[in-house]
Amino acid sequence: MCQIKSCHTRRSFIEQTQQTAETTNMSEEATGKWHRYYDKGFLPWDSGKPASQLVEFVENTFLPAWEAATAATAATAATTTETTGEQAPTASSSSDGAATAARRRPRAIEIGCGTGASCVYLAQQGFVVTGVDLVADAVAAAKERAEHAGVSDCCTFLVADAFQLPWAAEAHTDSEYEQQQQQQQQPQQEEATGDAAVTPHSYDLVYDCQTFHVLRQIDERGIVAVYKRLLRPGGYMFTLTGNADEPEVGPSVLTREELCRAFADFEQVSVQPSRFDMTPTYASLSQPPLAWCGIFRA
Ligand SMILES: C[S@@+](CC[C@H](N)C(=O)[O-])C[C@H]1O[C@@H](n2cnc3c(N)ncnc32)[C@H](O)[C@@H]1O
Repeated sequence: MCQIKSCHTRRSFIEQTQQTAETTNMSEEATGKWHRYYDKGFLPWDSGKPASQLVEFVENTFLPAWEAATAATAATAATTTETTGEQAPTASSSSDGAATAARRRPRAIEIGCGTGASCVYLAQQGFVVTGVDLVADAVAAAKERAEHAGVSDCCTFLVADAFQLPWAAEAHTDSEYEQQQQQQQQPQQEEATGDAAVTPHSYDLVYDCQTFHVLRQIDERGIVAVYKRLLRPGGYMFTLTGNADEPEVGPSVLTREELCRAFADFEQVSVQPSRFDMTPTYASLSQPPLAWCGIFRA
């Protein structure tokens, strides 16, 4: 009896997902489908929590490396001051580089941020965060989550299509970047532009969960070029996508080869099979869908 119930619920989840997709036509595909998910309040992917693989990566890899770089920079700065009497460079007085970059807070951007649980988590970990989503309702929910968590100050949320991001001028130094951010935050500027912008080559982490496997179906080279343009040299691309080693049960799937080929222009750090975190909808399946956790560097 239990099995029948589980089968029935599983079928209705897949049917609901397919119905939502099938009622879209080609021209609406990139937008209408996503608005309908939020209109219906049917968000099968949404666990309400940051992805466990992101938490693992941030706490065990990214932040320890960032802190080590900060310590190394501080030590170099102290030696320089001791031996030459010169002031050591600071984030606001020198150009971007691996060492000086570590003296500021890391910057992350999530494309397709949904209701913002991962953005809020990143902000709580000390990142300056930008969340982008096509759907205004998603962005409103993300903003509310950030306010509730007390991290709105370090989060910017944009309603935008990933293929048409509002690009700011390239900022070549941290001080240029900070100046640009301050200008964007001025109320008259917000009124003039309607929203903030994203700065090319300024992010230390581009995070994607279940969005790349959607956007690659529209223009794979295009979206990968967007990710590359967002990242500073050496910055991390972290993606969680559907994995074709099991039949598709909701999220679109791709093979390891397809994922590696898409990011061939990046340095591959790791590509590991994993599972998406449990959500109320995935609870009707025997286990959450299989995923790839791909980590690359620009
Ligand atoms: C499967 S959901 C994943 C949401 C979030 N990353 C999470 O894991 O909870 C995909 C998200 O991408 C957004 N999206 C789809 N196409 C987009 C586009 N062209 N530009 C920006 N966001 C897009 C959708 O509105 C949706 O919120």
